[in-house]
Amino acid sequence: AGGSDFVVVANRLPVDLERLADGSTRWKRSPGGLVTALEPILRSNRGAWVGWAGVADAELDPIVEDGLELYPVPLSAQEIADYYEGFSNATLWPLYHDVIVRPEYRREWWNTYVEVNRRFAEETAKAAAEGATVWVQDYQLQLVPKMLRMLRPDLTIGFFLHIPFPPVELFMQMPWRTEIVEGLLGADLIGFHLPGGAQNFLYLARRLAGHQTSRGTVGVRSKLGVVQVGFRAVRVGAFPISIDSGQLDEQARRKPIRDRAKQIRKELGNPKHIMLGVDRLDYTKGIDVRLDALLELIAEGRVDPAETVMVQLATPSRERVESYVQMRGAIEKTVSRINGEYAEVGRPVVHYIHRPIPRDELIAFFVAADVMLVTPLRDGMNLVAKEYVACRSDLGGALVLSEFTGAAAELRQAFLCNPHDLEDVKDKMEAALNQPREDGRRHMRALRRQVLAHDVDRWARSFLDALAHQGAAGPALI
Ligand code: G6P
Repeated sequence: AGGSDFVVVANRLPVDLERLADGSTRWKRSPGGLVTALEPILRSNRGAWVGWAGVADAELDPIVEDGLELYPVPLSAQEIADYYEGFSNATLWPLYHDVIVRPEYRREWWNTYVEVNRRFAEETAKAAAEGATVWVQDYQLQLVPKMLRMLRPDLTIGFFLHIPFPPVELFMQMPWRTEIVEGLLGADLIGFHLPGGAQNFLYLARRLAGHQTSRGTVGVRSKLGVVQVGFRAVRVGAFPISIDSGQLDEQARRKPIRDRAKQIRKELGNPKHIMLGVDRLDYTKGIDVRLDALLELIAEGRVDPAETVMVQLATPSRERVESYVQMRGAIEKTVSRINGEYAEVGRPVVHYIHRPIPRDELIAFFVAADVMLVTPLRDGMNLVAKEYVACRSDLGGALVLSEFTGAAAELRQAFLCNPHDLEDVKDKMEAALNQPREDGRRHMRALRRQVLAHDVDRWARSFLDALAHQGAAGPALI
């Protein structure tokens, strides 16, 4: 019946449909780490991608874009409010990020989440060829593996979670915890960034999915890395995601980028130190933490505002969700406060941009930055930290990195900090600013070795190899 042999299913397509003021439309790149990681893989595999185009009520036919087949899944305004802003981003997102804000559990959001997951499963069933491999992505679609298996038992189904999987005690808050675990167990292989997440899931699978359900006892036995669901073995493992490091390294070496980096430094008034933050504007990212740390460092005379600037590039994100509105307000207040107290006319201390930044411009900022600040309270991986490292073939620059990111497990030579401990963050920022050049080069060399060897291709290959060879334990499995 035609269809593709390899299908990626994600909430978002790699491109968003943008409606312009004159009523016309155009496609633009979607935000976030998931798209950054998966786009190169899918291009080289010539696969299909099932996802939402980012706007309400867009009934679009499948399109071919740059060799990629895109299958848009329509969402109504109400579904965006309940499934995307509600259950995905006001329930699951905070719950899976250590309840930094309190998750809201609303039955109507859950009902819409179930309905929309069903629509994604149905669209995928149409897009996939007989015996195809389907790779379902992230927390918005945790019910799709089971739903898809019921529709299409011929498919090989993988699932990867791009955000942290929470501790058991927190996951148990979820009123629909059993349905979610059973939804995921529809996959043949379930991937997490870190072994800890995989272990949490294995424990929950044993505790929840083996319980009595409406269809009788499911009978789940789990041993290390494998959950036996009836006759099916579901494997669970850790696969830390990465970036296209070789390509980024190459791009960052180009003359126009290096020239632009020099020009950025000049535009900032040739300061001695440039500190940089690059994030979606999200309360998990700890943007407030680094601003508070800077404010205190200046007040204590440990950082001189006459020779140090901070640039915070914040991509707008989930702007209709209440906790994001609040976080934005708090960040903008602190930026103003720092500048109010310490800036001179024509010479701000913090440069804050709340707009999407073009890719080339971002790379130039990475090249220009002396200290990169990555301070999330919790983050599944954090690809920005890896991008910064990939851009520093000059061995310059220093990385301050939160221990509460997946990346911290690999980037051991960074200035690792506990974002809940403001004194620690301040100490690490100060140490990064004053690091002797030779130490910096040595650290950056080690960081680059890690990031260049473990690229996104290797990540995808190890997951897809493990998925293809059911039974044979892949090296990345716990
Ligand atoms: C994170 C999530 C992705 C999500 C991205 C952007 O990287 O893991 O699933 O696509 O953020 O967020 P958004 O809500 O705009 O898709």
